[in-house]
Amino acid sequence: MKQSQFLELLRLTKISLSEYINWGEEEVFKMPFAAIAAKRADILKPETDIAAENCLAAKNIPPKELRQKENPAENLNQEKQLEDLKNKLNSCRECPLGAGRLNCVFGEGNPNADLMFIGEGPGFDEDHSGLPFIGKAGQLLTKIIEAMGFSRAEVYIANIVKCHPMKEPSQPESRGNDRPPSELEIETCKKYLDMQIDIVKPKAIAALGASALKGLFPKEEKTISQARGAWLKYRGVALMPTYHPAALLRNPELKKPVWQDMKAVIKFLQGIAK
Ligand code: URA
Repeated sequence: MKQSQFLELLRLTKISLSEYINWGEEEVFKMPFAAIAAKRADILKPETDIAAENCLAAKNIPPKELRQKENPAENLNQEKQLEDLKNKLNSCRECPLGAGRLNCVFGEGNPNADLMFIGEGPGFDEDHSGLPFIGKAGQLLTKIIEAMGFSRAEVYIANIVKCHPMKEPSQPESRGNDRPPSELEIETCKKYLDMQIDIVKPKAIAALGASALKGLFPKEEKTISQARGAWLKYRGVALMPTYHPAALLRNPELKKPVWQDMKAVIKFLQGIAK
């Protein structure tokens, strides 16, 4: 490694370390922060994957088992099924959101992911790009995913509704025009999320925020503050409700409970990988 690369690695390690402190992690030295920093800096190329393996190894998760299911033909099939569903949804107009959206935001990630994140619905940036969680809240979600030792490409990211819920649907070019999805919109769209879950077959789901919680569990009476941190089950998959990253941007004190919830998810995945 060149001296300049080593210094870059130290710089990123320092950032990662302070990130963990921000997140309320007391046992920072147990975390694979150096490997994550190296992976982010992309300086271990072509051994980037070694850094990735280190992240998982540091968490005692056998990488092959975590990231691949046994049958490669099944993986291809999952990819194809998701692609077909995405193509179908691109022309969906089943609910009023279809009329105002710029893009259907289907979701993205590893078709065979063991961990799936479910958010509320696309916002301005997502509507413009067609990709989930790429605005400010999305960037924070990416940090959370990376702090867990994954890359975005290793997990699957979706939303409870696929089109941008807008206060004023005739103005998709206005920022600050977001609203939570209505019950009707969720009810209409949820079957497609269910299909995604059934295709990907994740081992765990993290449901982000009140809309995801209420959308998946309409009878749930607890608020997200009351429900977070305790496992639920959705379509046979273990599901951890936690705060939405947008709530963390408004109130950074929520970072600590979210990190606790994500540590429970890591522990759960470690348990089934053994
Ligand atoms: N918030 C969400 O819930 N989902 C996105 O895709 C972006 C922001």
